[in-house]
Amino acid sequence: MITIHVTDLEGKTHDIQAPIDMGFNVMEAIRANELPIKATCGGMAMCATCNCIVKSDHKLPEMSEDEEAMLDEAFVLDVEGSRLMCQLPVSAALDGLAIQMGELTGE
Ligand code: FES
Repeated sequence: MITIHVTDLEGKTHDIQAPIDMGFNVMEAIRANELPIKATCGGMAMCATCNCIVKSDHKLPEMSEDEEAMLDEAFVLDVEGSRLMCQLPVSAALDGLAIQMGELTGE
């Protein structure tokens, strides 16, 4: 298990636990912890409603072209540290990750 610090749209931070051996991505881990997140496309890098801003200095996987294109289209790429949570696999390297949920994740 790893811990991810998730700040929601109201500014409240939740420390969620995520298993590293179940093939989860960060969006799925947030859902499993029952925090509200739209994630309309279900993790296909096609909606950007799982966007977040990474606050910690963890080394993250490189962005795929799909992720980059989607963030670009959603006009959030210029916010430094923007990523799609569904494109970040939960791994031991992400223990202690701190993220701010992006505006597009809410209703
Ligand atoms: S859930 Fe749609 S892009 Fe991540």
